[in-house]
Amino acid sequence: MKRLKLFIGLLGLLMGMSVGQQAQHDAPLQRARAAADALFTRLLERLNTEYQQGGAERGVQVCAQVAQSLTRQIGREQGVQIRRVSTKNRNPRNAPDAWERQVLQRWERELKAGKEIGEVAEWRTERGKRVYRYMRPIKIATPLCLECHGTQIKPEVRRLIRERYPNDKATGYQLGDLRGAFSVQISQPKEAQ
Ligand code: HEC
Repeated sequence: MKRLKLFIGLLGLLMGMSVGQQAQHDAPLQRARAAADALFTRLLERLNTEYQQGGAERGVQVCAQVAQSLTRQIGREQGVQIRRVSTKNRNPRNAPDAWERQVLQRWERELKAGKEIGEVAEWRTERGKRVYRYMRPIKIATPLCLECHGTQIKPEVRRLIRERYPNDKATGYQLGDLRGAFSVQISQPKEAQ
């Protein structure tokens, strides 16, 4: 348990985690950050536990069962809409919309040009409604990610992934690559519209 906490702490540092607050009246940026922090920690904790108990094989099976419901649960707890997106998504539900795609592609270009990338946030008008949108990059920050997203995935793990995600695009990554993003949406409260 101690090792797990250390591991998560380290990853947090690697990915530039902020200390979030979750009260409804917080500024949207704080709320979006808190939701991304919470989802990141929760998914990683679960992944790490399952991995220690049954390797990547078990990790894939559990992840396939719980990733989406855990994501919805965090959204409810934090009072936001949150998901993970990627241009090379494994789960079809994690495909980016137009705005998300454009941010992901810009980050790819910036990384190629040797620039640093970081969170993006803006108010937008979508289908006549004001909505706050936030994205934070997710990188392949540890070799653990490569067991299921890398170039040399064990045949049994590959088989389990294919079985559950026939249209998987999320392999072939290397350490440090951009894997995707946390994406948060917050609607403007009714009285302010
Ligand atoms: C044990 C296998 C496994 C490991 C290890 C793993 N993932 Fe995944 N990953 C998955 C599965 C399965 C999904 C699809 C989850 C779903 O249905 O939403 C996924 C989905 C994702 C997504 C959502 C976008 C998409 O492709 O659908 C991101 C982002 C992601 N993983 C990043 C990471 C990062 C970063 C690491 C390392 C910290 C990591 N993963 C480690 C199995 C794994």
